Parts: sequence; C-alpha cells; structure tokens
Amino acid sequence: MSSLSAIVLAAGLGTRMKSPLPKVMHTVAGRPLLAYALRAAFDAGVEHAVVVTSGRPEIEEFLNEQFGGRVVTTVQDPPRGTGDAARIGLAHVRTERVLILCGDTPLLRAKELAELVAVLDRPSAGELSLMTCLLDSPDGYGRVVRDDAGRVCEVREQRDLRSDMERGIREVNAGMYAGRTATIGAALADVRPNNAQGEYYLTDIVASIARLSTVTPVQGHRDALLGVNDRAQLRDAEELMLERIRRRHAEAGVTVRGNPHIDDTVEIAPDATVDNGATLRGSTRVGAGSRVDVGCVLSGAVVSEGVILKPYTVITSSEVGDRAQLGPFSHLRPDSVIEAEAHLGNFVETKATRVRRGAKANHLAYLGDADIGEQANIGAGTIVCNYDGTSKHRTMIGAGAFVGSDSQLVAPVTVGRGAFVASGTTVVRDVPEDALAIGRPEQINKEGYAVKLREKLAARRASR
Ligand code: UD1
Ligand code: MG
Repeated sequence: MSSLSAIVLAAGLGTRMKSPLPKVMHTVAGRPLLAYALRAAFDAGVEHAVVVTSGRPEIEEFLNEQFGGRVVTTVQDPPRGTGDAARIGLAHVRTERVLILCGDTPLLRAKELAELVAVLDRPSAGELSLMTCLLDSPDGYGRVVRDDAGRVCEVREQRDLRSDMERGIREVNAGMYAGRTATIGAALADVRPNNAQGEYYLTDIVASIARLSTVTPVQGHRDALLGVNDRAQLRDAEELMLERIRRRHAEAGVTVRGNPHIDDTVEIAPDATVDNGATLRGSTRVGAGSRVDVGCVLSGAVVSEGVILKPYTVITSSEVGDRAQLGPFSHLRPDSVIEAEAHLGNFVETKATRVRRGAKANHLAYLGDADIGEQANIGAGTIVCNYDGTSKHRTMIGAGAFVGSDSQLVAPVTVGRGAFVASGTTVVRDVPEDALAIGRPEQINKEGYAVKLREKLAARRASR
C-alpha cells in the first residue's frame, strides 16, 4: 500500500455547543471527539495526520500529548468553509494519497475508512472515493447526485437544492473522502464560494473530479454520519459509543449487567463483573475476577484480581490489592493503597493512606494520611485527626494493632505493633508495641438513680 496521510477538519466554531471549550475537545466516553476520528484514521493505515484547527491551544496540547509526532496542526482563521480548511490542510500533506475526515464524527469506524482507501486500488475506481449513507430523513446533509448511468456526479448541499426531486434524494454525503493528493489539490484550487452560504465547499471537488475521472461511492454505516453539533447530539453519540464499549468488554469475557458507564480509556480483565449503574472513568483498570457492584464510581482506580467492590464504593486515583473487599459506601480519596485481603466497610474514608495486607476497618472511620499495619483492626467510629488547622500529619499503626471503637488518633502519632487502644480513647502520645492505651474518665454507677431521675422529670412536667 502506498503511504497515506489524513486531514481532519476541526476549525468550525461549534457555536451550538454553547461552550468556551472547542467543540472537538468535548468528550464522549472519556475521550475528546477529535481523538476518535484520529484513532480510526491511524487504525485504517494512516501514518501521519494534519488537523486543521481554529488555533485554540487546548487542541494542540491534547494532540501533542496523545499522538506526539504523528499529528501536526495548522490553523484556519477565519473559517471560510470545508473546502478552504481542506486546502490549508493539504499544504502539509506529502503522501501520494490522502484521507479527509471531520473531527466531530466520533462513531466512524476504521474498517470503513480502510475500505474508502482500498477501493482506490480497483482498476475502475478513479481518483476519489466518497463515503455515503442512505437515510430515511436526509434533511440537513449534502445529497449525492447521480447521472442517468448511476455514476456520482455531484454533491449538493441542503441549502442549494433546487427541486423536490433533489430534496427527495436519500443518499447523503458522510463527509469522508479518500483520493490522490494531487488530484484533490487541483480540484480545491478551483473551488469558489458561489453558493447559498458564501463558503468554500469541499464537496465541490466531487463535481470537478467526476467530470475528468470517476468518483466511487462507498456506503458506510449510518453511525459514521453522526456529527456532533450540539449537546443533544453529543449525548446521542455518547450513548452509542457506551453501548459499543459495553459490548466490546462483554465479547472479551467481562460480565456487564445493565448499563454501566465505562469510558473508552478503561481496561477490564476477563471474568470481571461490572454491574448496572457503575461508572468507570479515566485510567481505571479492573483485574480478573473482580466485581464492581451497582453504583460504584471509579476514576483512575487500579483494582487487582478477585476484588469485591460492594455497592456505591467511590475510588479516586487509588489502588486496591488482590481479594480486598470494600463497601458498601467506602470512599478512597487520592493516593490510597489498599493491600491484598484488606477489608473496608461502610462509611470508611481514606486519603493518602496505606491499609496493609489483611487489615480491617469495617465501619464508620476516617483514615487520612495514615499507615495501617498488616492485620490491624480499626474499630467503628475511629477518626484520625490528621489536620491541625495548618498542616497535615501522619498516623502510623503497627501490624496486628487493635484500635477500639470511637477512638481518636491525634497525628502525628504512632501506635506500636500489637498495641491495644481501648474504646473511646483519644491517643495524643505514641503507644509502645504491645502496650494498652486507655484514656477515658472512669465510669460511676449510681444504684437506683434512674428511678429517682424519672420521678423528678415527671414532676417537673406536671408542674408546667
Ligand atoms: C458537511 C458537508 C455535507 C455533509 C456533512 C456530513 C460540506 C460543504 N458539506 O456539511 O455535504 O453531508 O458535512 O456531516 O462540506 N470545518 C472547518 N472549517 C470550516 C468549516 C468547517 O474546519 O470553515 C470543519 C468543522 O469543524 C467540521 C467539519 O469541517 O468538523 C464539517 O463542517 P460542518 O460545518 O459541520 O459541515 P456540514 O454543514 O455538516
Ligand atoms: Mg456537520
């Protein structure tokens, strides 16, 4: 195959998005719209891409970070139409063939693009191929006009349609083209803005190339056409993309129940289960045999194998080791590491905390900036007081230590290995290894006093 470049048109203003963010940077399933068009192009055999942008720095930053040297950007300002944008992009193309795409159609597939290019190798193909779709309601799209012999001879924009017969054409232009760079360049040089919108139409190259050679239509799936122009279409595109992602994981051996939200960037190993209403975002990874139950929200979570995340566990930028069990309603804030076989229960919150192998905190605890030793047991209601109003301090709890319910640990403080903290203790000084720390007022029992108290209260109520 001769080498191939792509031009991705992304300089439109995107005013209907009503957003300061450039349209192509709005995300679908965790990736900007623009990323999907580029990925499909690279998967279809493109080596190098030129993105025509409005000059917004966010786009350039993202492209450098994600695609590095494979993508260059060039600026079209002002946006004078798709033909003008393609001409500006083409100035950076050095390959014999070029693919032209829009940056706002995230559902296009690599195999359709590959076919668009592959047809050019057919002896009868001519010098341009064009992706088309058959629609029941073609309104708004450019129509593919064919001659009496059925050959494509023109694409006419909605606003330039001249008769009801033309308006009735159901075959539309999907906005993706492949062809010989030199031929497209020559055709673009002739494009004039003599149309209803006063713009340079890329679609005008179809008529001029059809006059000299052949334009080959390739029928694509209607999804490929779904261009995002407003937030309603963004939502439609995301719904379709999410269903594709769920199906991809299911086909790879993941049990996917109902409709969890799984970003395109997430990795899930076979034999994991993701339940209805879970949300898995960003760089989240879930290991084999793990279960992510209803309502869990995972962002940048690294979950190992055989982990059980019970309903409504929230994990942000943290790690969970093999066979650990969390939730329901556990909350791991950034930089937490929960080691293998540890258990965290309902309303347990961690932040920058390591819970070592087999340690347990089963109910109601705040464990921030702490290190909990192996097999340690943290009782219900334990609070690590890590903040003194100015700075954060660490709490160290040794292996096998037992922290009784309703204790406070005022950091910085260390509880030694095997130490025992009695319930209700406020620990302000280090507890040595194997020591008992107890810090609570002694209890006094007054015999029969409850009866007297009740009588006194009743009398007071009667006198009111
Ligand atoms: C275009 C096609 C239409 C086709 C439809 C498919 C033209 C004239 N029409 O119409 O036949 O059915 O796509 O979706 O091409 N852009 C620029 N610079 C500009 C204008 C647009 O870079 O000056 C970019 C946009 O960011 C967008 C793409 O080109 O990614 C398409 O532009 P848009 O205005 O959406 O074209 P349509 O009117 O949808
Ligand atoms: Mg469009």
